[in-house]
Order: sequence, then C-alpha cells, then structure tokens
Amino acid sequence: MEQPRPVVILDFGSQYTQLIARRIREMQVYAVIVPCHLPFEGLVRMNPQALILSGGPSSVYDPDAPICDERVLKLNLPVLGICYGLQWMSYKLGGKVEPARRGEYGFAQLRADPPSEMLRGLPSPLRVWNSHGDHVTAVPGGFRIAGWTENAISVIENHAAKMYALEFHPEVHHTDRGAEILKNFVQGICGIQPNWFPQSFIRETVERVREQIGDGRALCALSGGVDSAVAATLVSWAIGDRLVCVFVNNGLLRQNEFEEVTAALREQAHLNVRAVDHSARFVDRLRGVADPERKRKIIGEEFIRVFEEEARSLGEIEFLVQGTLYPDVIESVSVKGPAATIKSHHNVGGLPSDLKFRLVEPLRELFKDEVRVVGRELGLSEEVVSRQPFPGPGLAVRIVGEVTEERLRMVREADAIVLAEVRAAGFYQRLWQSFAVLLPVSSVGVMGDARTYAATIAVRAVESEDGMTADWARLPAELLERIATRVVNEVKGVNRVVFDLTSKPPGTIEWE
Ligand code: XMP
Repeated sequence: MEQPRPVVILDFGSQYTQLIARRIREMQVYAVIVPCHLPFEGLVRMNPQALILSGGPSSVYDPDAPICDERVLKLNLPVLGICYGLQWMSYKLGGKVEPARRGEYGFAQLRADPPSEMLRGLPSPLRVWNSHGDHVTAVPGGFRIAGWTENAISVIENHAAKMYALEFHPEVHHTDRGAEILKNFVQGICGIQPNWFPQSFIRETVERVREQIGDGRALCALSGGVDSAVAATLVSWAIGDRLVCVFVNNGLLRQNEFEEVTAALREQAHLNVRAVDHSARFVDRLRGVADPERKRKIIGEEFIRVFEEEARSLGEIEFLVQGTLYPDVIESVSVKGPAATIKSHHNVGGLPSDLKFRLVEPLRELFKDEVRVVGRELGLSEEVVSRQPFPGPGLAVRIVGEVTEERLRMVREADAIVLAEVRAAGFYQRLWQSFAVLLPVSSVGVMGDARTYAATIAVRAVESEDGMTADWARLPAELLERIATRVVNEVKGVNRVVFDLTSKPPGTIEWE
C-alpha cells in the first residue's frame, strides 16, 4: 500500500521542531521530520505535498550553519519557513539578513498588514512567541510583508511562488492561535485534506508489517505499558499467532499487575501471550544491593538472560517487535546526521549477538498521545491505553536502598492505595505518574498507646507532557490526607507519609 504524501519538515536544529510535526498531525495530516541535510534525491522520493523549514539555533552567516540543498526551493511545492527557516529562505532568495540590534526572545505583538494568507481570520495585534537574534532587513523579490513585530519583519508571503515565512514560532503554545496559523498554511494554502489518522495508519502499518515479516515469526517483549501492547497488537493483526509475546514477571511489578495485564492482552487484543514468572530470580540477585545503578544493571542483565532463554525455547524466530516511538528516532537522527545510531530500546537493548533479530518497529512514526489513539482504535481498554508509564526496573527503583520481599510488600501495598485514591478522585488520567516510594528512613510514631518505629513512604505525583520535564502535581489536601491515613493504617511497617515537592529538573521523576 502506498504511503500518504507527507508534509516534510526540514529540521535545522530547533528545539521546537517536534512540535511542528505534532501540531500538523493534530490536524490529521501526515507530517515527518527529516534532517536539513537529507540528500535532495531522498527528499524528492518522499513525494512531499509541502515543505516546512524549521527554526534553528544558528545564524545563516555562521560558518557551520546547518545547510540544506537549495533546490528544495525550486520544487514548485508550497514552502513555509519558520524563524531560521525564514532567514535561510530570505538569504538564499536574495533578501538581506542581519544581526538585530535587539534580538526578540519571548512574547511580541504581531501586527498584520492585510491581505495575508497566513494570518487569515486572525485578530491583529496577536501575541506571538519569538526567539531570534538575526532578522530580515530586506525581503527577496516577489515577497510582500504581511506582518510586523516591534523590532522585526515577521510575516512574508509570495503568493505566486507559494512561499511563506514567519519570524515567530506558531508551533509553541505561547503563540496565541498558532495552530490556526499553521492550519492556514496546511489546509488553506496547500489545500491538504485531513485524512491520515488513525484508521489509515493502522491499515498501512498492518500491511507493511505483513510484507516485512512474510510468513516468518516474531517475538515481542511486553512490559505491561501501552507502547509494547499497541505495537504487539498491530503486529498480531498482521501475522496472527505467528507473533509470540513474552511477558516476564520480574517480581518488581505492581499489585496484581502480572495477572491483570496478561488477562487484558489475551482477552482484548487476542495476543498470544507467554506469561512467565521469574520473580525469584530477580529478587535473589538483588539481595544486599543498595546502589541504584547496580540495581538497574542487575535487572537489565537478568532480563536479557530470561528473554534469551525464552526466545531459544520457542525455536527459530527471526523478528523482534519493539515499541520504539518517534521522539526516540528523531532525537537520535535529526541534525546530528544520518550516521548517528538510533537508540536501542532500554528494556531489550544489549541482546547477545548470536540472537540476531530483525527489528519490527510499527510505532516509529508516532508520538505517545498518538499511540494511545491507535490503541483505542484497536480496541484496547482505557486500563491498558491510559496507563501511566512504569519503568522497566519497576518497584526496585521505588525502594531506596535494598530490595527485599518485605520492602517490596510495603511499597506495593502503599502504591496500590495511592493509585486507588488518585483514580477515585478523578486524577489518574491528568497525571503523568503517581506512585509510592519506600524510603530507607525509620521514624518514631505513636499508634494507639504504643510507640512505633517504622518506615516512611513518599508520595510522588507529577504532571508532564513527555517525561523529559515534569512539575509536581498540586493534589488536593483531602486526597493527600486520605492517602496518608490509609497507608499508615493499612500498610504494616509504615508509620509516616511525606509528599515530594520536587519538579524535574532538578529532581528526576523516579527516586533512583
Ligand atoms: P526519570 O526518573 O529519569 O524518568 O525522570 C523519566 C520517565 O522515564 C521512566 N523511566 C524508565 N522507563 N525503563 C523505562 O522503561 C527505565 O529504566 C526507566 N527509568 C525511568 C520514568 O518512570 C519516567 O516516566
């Protein structure tokens, strides 16, 4: 089946490039990001419907400024330049770019000079987000200025050549009605109809996976999370029971998680799940180990060992399914060059070299929120699709210090209370994560008439878009109180509950 024709975003290194793709995909239009130095022939082969030149941190006059094949401007395709994209376009088409006496960083008022196709239907002035040191001082021939900010030419348009450019960033949330500005380009100017998602994605992906695997077999390690569940379901739509999913109980999962996830994926997604319990092995190997990195390493190694044994016991399997997402792919290839290696998935990285799998990565083009949309469309329940992320090393990184059966019991029970109360209060889906951490701190308390000397649970709850940064969640005091009361009353060995007020940065989300 043919790939849809994409809007291609040429990445000049801006921290916002991913957001351009997200905003366009939110219009249900297929958009892909490629490094700006992608060979011209490769770009032509992608058969784009339109091009967007992203922002970037350089000045067009820097000797090592990112460059792009100038022929991209002669493809007779609609082009939108953003920030550095505007400057590069202007410079290449005969305009003038100079360092501004005053750069513009942050908010600015944009005043339109109608008629403007990019600003159609939008008020003037409009609050926009800028981040530039250089600016355009003379526009190239054929362009007219359609908008200004106080210090810079901000919108230029060449209707006949279908070329448009913005000095500000319409893709960031700080720009008022930025999504409509991008929509004016994608739908208004380019005339691209929303048609990409999610049914067409599923149809095309299933077809492609079927072609890739042929009549071979594939293996998938389930983690209990949404990415591996959706990846496996897509592949099973393509090859049925020739996909074997392995779900390992490492003894570090949450309460009832092993049984519930196995049942959900068998019943809802009809996956061929091989659920294997190796808890004792992991917990044994963790005995006496308190160092966080050492714990992670042991769990990683043991996982590979178990996975290897399971794989070998299943006979000849050529393909390995992984839930790699788009941010992992572009983070590693973008401007750094096509030669940069792509991250291997942290949970199954480092497999022994004689287990030579060919990778199947059906989610390589999706963002996390898109994975959830696809998961729902595939019939997975909210329980699976909206699950908060859970780290591969599991509860081991939520027990500060040594992992023992007894300490696992405490953190598991406390965690179940946190999750139950967060759900009951309607907060589960609004939070990126919410969980309990067991601290290696005992303190004095009094229960009934007796003095206690027992352990401490920290409650962690954060809001985040992607886990890269996070803010501690302002949970209602009543909810925190219910959690604290229940944990102290119901979890034997715990007599104190504290709440973590650290954002990321400077803290990480997990404690280890
Ligand atoms: P940190 O603690 O680094 O976590 O702020 C960021 C996000 O990543 C998750 N995390 C992991 N996920 N394997 C995973 O699959 C891991 O080893 C791992 N470590 C952290 C964490 O839960 C958070 O969502």
